[in-house]
Amino acid sequence: MNICVIGTGYVGLVTGVVFADMGNDVVCVDKLAAKIDGLNQGIMPIYEPGLEEMVARNVADGRLEFTTDLDSAVQKAEIVFIAVGTPPREDGSTNLSYVEDAAKGVARALNRYKVIVNKSTVPVGTGDFVREVIETNKRRAVDFDVVSNPEFLREGSAITDTLVPDRIVIGAPSKIVAMRLLELYAPLERPMIVTDVASAEMIKYASNAFLATKISFANAIANICEEAGADVTQVVKGMGLDKRIGTAFLNAGIGYGGSCFPKDTRSLLHTAQSYGCEFPLLAATIQTNEEQPKRFIAKIHEALGGDDLKGKTVGILGLAFKANTDDMREAKSLDVIADLLAAGATVKAYDPIAMENTKSVFPHITYGANAYEVATGADALIIVTEWNEFKNLNFERVSALMARPLILDGRNLYDPERLRRLGFEYHSVGRASTAPTAKHAVHSLREEPVLV
Ligand SMILES: NC(=O)c1ccc[n+]([C@@H]2O[C@H](COP(=O)([O-])OP(=O)(O)OC[C@H]3O[C@@H](n4cnc5c(N)ncnc54)[C@H](O)[C@@H]3O)[C@@H](O)[C@H]2O)c1
Repeated sequence: MNICVIGTGYVGLVTGVVFADMGNDVVCVDKLAAKIDGLNQGIMPIYEPGLEEMVARNVADGRLEFTTDLDSAVQKAEIVFIAVGTPPREDGSTNLSYVEDAAKGVARALNRYKVIVNKSTVPVGTGDFVREVIETNKRRAVDFDVVSNPEFLREGSAITDTLVPDRIVIGAPSKIVAMRLLELYAPLERPMIVTDVASAEMIKYASNAFLATKISFANAIANICEEAGADVTQVVKGMGLDKRIGTAFLNAGIGYGGSCFPKDTRSLLHTAQSYGCEFPLLAATIQTNEEQPKRFIAKIHEALGGDDLKGKTVGILGLAFKANTDDMREAKSLDVIADLLAAGATVKAYDPIAMENTKSVFPHITYGANAYEVATGADALIIVTEWNEFKNLNFERVSALMARPLILDGRNLYDPERLRRLGFEYHSVGRASTAPTAKHAVHSLREEPVLV
């Protein structure tokens, strides 16, 4: 099939390359010439495991092209995907101006019947809006249909998620229109649900809101555990093994971030209110998520001795909003670093992939080449992102390098008892803090075998 994908961000680029890899002829369009120039030179605008190789292979085989020329890309295509950003407005509603621009571009280029697919996350009713924009702006008397095909990929595993999605949701005005998408996705051999456009749009928001609620629920439980002397990691394990609950998205931490959950929860709340529906459960999910980093930051201050952190050096491990991505949108590291700088601390940071993106926000903090450089001379080490390479640090080395062996772990990566034995003061989320006893002070590292 001839396919056009408008928007070459996390969703558009990954979707485009996977369709090409399935044998389709795909043209990816973006309005940012620098992005397209880079892609034409094999430079990826985002970090995503496996992406670069897959793009190179499909470009070399002639199935994948990148352009800023929307007209020709749309004209060649039978199916046009809109995968542009849908950022939040101040009031929580969704800014649909990029979707509108893309739809106007499609309308201008429309030369024969096409299926226009909304892959961007858009509020219920946007399918009708896109139809209206195209109808009003089209220059030729040709027909078209608008379909909703929301995307569920996760950054960090986007290629796999696109190749092996749990389900493919197709919201179409008729079975015949849905067939076009069913045919396109058939080679993936994944479960597909065909429904109407509005229901498909709602499936996306309802899913993200539910997952965000699981995270906030785990965080609320963590806060009780912390006071009551329970261990939230054991509690969520015990809950998650119940098949009706499941372990996914049930970890306590410093709250969800990223480009989707924060904006999609606020957008759904806004949609609910616009229909006169109360949704206090979702409001509480959002509020819990806003409180969570504040609680963690308070813990940092308490451990370091107060509001004024002048003269203290703090190391940050992990900047991206989650592991395996370079995406900094709504990353909790931004809140933590901003607070530390405001309190007068010196901040050193390390992330395997996201440092370049962070430099545009915090150009003046120090960036280390690895975790050990950041630990050197630090009065505290703060774990913000759960990168694999932080899970098995050489703590003997870390302790020897730090000015004070203090770790605040926003992701519950370590066993508190082990860290205590290794001579650290250790604070995590939803578990009792531990401090080394005199007998277990730093030098005990060399005497005691460590049971992991
Ligand atoms: N990032 C994710 O993990 C994820 C997952 C599922 C769904 N989504 C949804 O998918 C959509 C896209 O998200 P993203 O993270 O890929 O966004 P992004 O910001 O990474 O990419 C959007 C791209 O669209 C381009 N663009 C905007 N207007 C354009 C136009 N008129 N013509 C051509 N290009 C245009 C931008 O230049 C940008 O490159 C959003 O609605 C988002 O909520 C994202």
